[in-house]
Amino acid sequence: MNLRQHVQPYQEAMTQWRHQIHRQPEVGFQEFQTTKLVEEELKRAGIALRSLNTETGVLGVLKGERGPGPVVVLRADMDALPMQEETGLPYASQTPGVMHACGHDGHTATLLGTAHALAAIKEHLCGEVRFLFQPAEETLAGAQGMIQSGVLDDPPADYIVALHGSSGLKLGQVTALRGPAMASADKFTVTFTAAGGHGGFPHQTRDPVLTAAHFITAVQEIVSRQVNALDSAVVSVCAVEAGTAFNIIPRSALVRGTIRTLSNAVRDRMEERLGEKAAGVAATFGCGYEVDFVPCVPPVVNDGAMVDRLHAAARNVLGPDSIVESTHPLMGSEDFALYSEKVPKSLFFQIGILEPGTEPIHGHNSRFDYHDEALVPGAAVFCQLVWDLLGSA
Ligand code: NI
Repeated sequence: MNLRQHVQPYQEAMTQWRHQIHRQPEVGFQEFQTTKLVEEELKRAGIALRSLNTETGVLGVLKGERGPGPVVVLRADMDALPMQEETGLPYASQTPGVMHACGHDGHTATLLGTAHALAAIKEHLCGEVRFLFQPAEETLAGAQGMIQSGVLDDPPADYIVALHGSSGLKLGQVTALRGPAMASADKFTVTFTAAGGHGGFPHQTRDPVLTAAHFITAVQEIVSRQVNALDSAVVSVCAVEAGTAFNIIPRSALVRGTIRTLSNAVRDRMEERLGEKAAGVAATFGCGYEVDFVPCVPPVVNDGAMVDRLHAAARNVLGPDSIVESTHPLMGSEDFALYSEKVPKSLFFQIGILEPGTEPIHGHNSRFDYHDEALVPGAAVFCQLVWDLLGSA
């Protein structure tokens, strides 16, 4: 079956869905209109909906008519970002201060087109395809609720796949790194405390501001001295809060930041060392301290065999030149990692949205847009991957 040809007629519909979603962007957990549109379109394709215990998000279930077989989950994210759009597009955001600046409108439209295309050939499929449209990827908070709603269960998912538009790749290109592909992300707040006092009489108290300053420099020693040079880790202090006046030593100083790694072993080590640094620096300067460490997501890890499947599928529907070999993981993060932790046969791939001859505008920029010409390639790769796992002519 030529799935590129099979998907082509859905281009117009996918383009319309994307523009409609782009016009009505919704931030994480507020994707009410988008949820409604997705539910209506899945129903129109004859796809059953499974109820979730969340307010937004959709799970469509398509059973192949060739009998039992594996369960393949395809996932898209639906949320937009809290920023003002400056694209000047005819279908630009109509909601001030909210825009689709990461291409989730494109991911949602691609998966809707895929659902329609696969529903039309369900007599050739065995097993089950689940279409998972999740909320709140940008805050890394949406996947957890989907998993708790059982989207990976009954029967358990065998495979899970998602795509992300990349302005670093040309239209019609795909890439996926084997093994760790995106970083873990965790958050921390360290609070140093003391009695407080007069700026002119520091010897009468302890100084949480000075302590915080030492802590900020000390944490960089974790990356440079405590992590193997061949491993990767980032610790960034991104917010500091302390004090109200030029002559009052405050009672507390807060330091907030994020930690990124490419393995759970390094991730655990970073957390441990961060706690030691806080304790050590606090003891040295005589302050109290508290560490609030919030684990968010592990690294995204691509299964090698699934990357091989991507290459085979892309060769088939996009041609031999479509495959770009990835060389480096990204230190950005994705809550897709939570699914891939539960379903080891997982694949998160990038698909090109850059028109050749144009300058790339990357995600989270106010002039960013997905590309309509990436919709058919994305849906064709999704369909071919499902066909290779569940299909037979
Ligand atoms: Ni994104």
